[in-house]
Amino acid sequence: MHIERVKLQSFDDTPDGELFIAEGTKNIPFAIKRVYYINQLDNPKAVRGKHAHKKLDQAIFCVNGSFVIDLDDGKEQTSITLDASSPGVLLPPMMWHTMHDFSKNCALLVLASDFFDESDYIRKHDEFLALCA
Ligand code: TYD
Repeated sequence: MHIERVKLQSFDDTPDGELFIAEGTKNIPFAIKRVYYINQLDNPKAVRGKHAHKKLDQAIFCVNGSFVIDLDDGKEQTSITLDASSPGVLLPPMMWHTMHDFSKNCALLVLASDFFDESDYIRKHDEFLALCA
């Protein structure tokens, strides 16, 4: 299973911070229309995602702490642990993804190629598998 990773350009000014840059159509392989982030993951059993998109491209990054993302393209499955030093993961259309095992103070950032559209979601795994077949 081929998973594309995205390493952001960065400027290391530690101890005065590290700056990361994502530019749509440059190091991010699509024009970015939407950005969202998730923090306050205080429930150690939190599970997010559990869906695929029909058309949306996304890139997911861990900006603090760590989490695990499970990926399923309908044929193969893999799991990747992301932390703040990891390259991001590209989530193309038809990639079922589930995020879990969030560390304390985990924050994740997602760049998306389009505006929010609930009709682009596939939220049932059996429906996803049927569409992959
Ligand atoms: P969802 O994408 O299912 O979250 P996750 O994949 O992280 O578990 O979205 C959770 C809720 O937030 C859902 O009711 C839709 C809403 N939402 C928006 O309204 N706009 C957005 O851009 C996103 C990402 C979610």
